[in-house]
Amino acid sequence: MAAIRSFELARSLETAGCQTRIVATTPALYFLDPAAVAAFRARGPGMLSVDADEWPGAGYTRGDPVGHIELRRWAEVLVVAPLDANTLAKFALGLADNYLTCLFRAWDFAKPVVLAPAMNTLMWQSPATLRHLRILLEDHAGSPPPAGWLLEEAPSVFAHHAPRIVLVPPRSRRLACGDIGQGAMAQVEAITAAVAAWASHEPRDD
Ligand SMILES: Cc1cc2nc3c(=O)[nH]c(=O)nc-3n(C[C@H](O)[C@H](O)[C@H](O)COP(=O)(O)O)c2cc1C
Repeated sequence: MAAIRSFELARSLETAGCQTRIVATTPALYFLDPAAVAAFRARGPGMLSVDADEWPGAGYTRGDPVGHIELRRWAEVLVVAPLDANTLAKFALGLADNYLTCLFRAWDFAKPVVLAPAMNTLMWQSPATLRHLRILLEDHAGSPPPAGWLLEEAPSVFAHHAPRIVLVPPRSRRLACGDIGQGAMAQVEAITAAVAAWASHEPRDD
C-alpha cells in the first residue's frame, strides 16, 4: 500500500520548500515503519498525528485544542496520499470518524486539496469510485460539469470545474498485490509538482 511512501513524499515536499505535517489513519500505521513514525513525531508536537492524538489525556477540558481544527488553520494545502477506497468513500459521504476525515470535513475549500488515489485496479474501476468522485465534484464545482463524465476524465473534469481539488491519478503497473493495472499511487514527484503548482500561482476563480 502506498502509505509506505508517506515519508518519501514528506521529504520531497520539504525539499520543495514546504513545511509538512502528517496525519496517519490507524490502518495506515500498519504500513509505516514504527521507527520512522517515532522519528517524525519526535520532531515536535503535531508533526505526525494519529487518531489517539484527537483524544489525549484523561478527558476533554473546555478550551483544549481540537487537533483537526488547529491543523486546518495551519495548513495551506491538504495532500491525501494515498487516498484509499475507504477514505474516498468517507470523504464523499461526509463521514468524519477519524482525524483525517474530520480534517477533510472541516477543510476550508478556498485552500487546495491534492488527492492521490491508490487502490487495486478493480477497486479503482468499481462504480463506487466514479460515484464518489462525482459527488465530490458536485459538492465543490464552481461551474456545471459535463453530464456523464467517465473515470479517466476525472483529473481534467476536476481541473476545469473544481480546480481547488487536484486529482493526481493512479498509474498502471504491477501492484503490491500482484495484479497488473491502474491503481498504483502517482509518483512522489508528480504529487510534489501538483503542490508546487499551487504555491507558484494564485488559484483562479471558479
Ligand atoms: C495489505 C493490505 C493492502 C491494502 N491496500 C489497499 C490499497 O492499496 N488501497 C485501498 O484502497 N485499500 C487497501 N487496503 C484496504 C484498506 O487497508 C482498508 O480499506 C482500510 O480500512 C483503510 O482505512 P483508512 O481509509 O482509514 O486508512 C489494503 C488492505 C490490506 C490488508
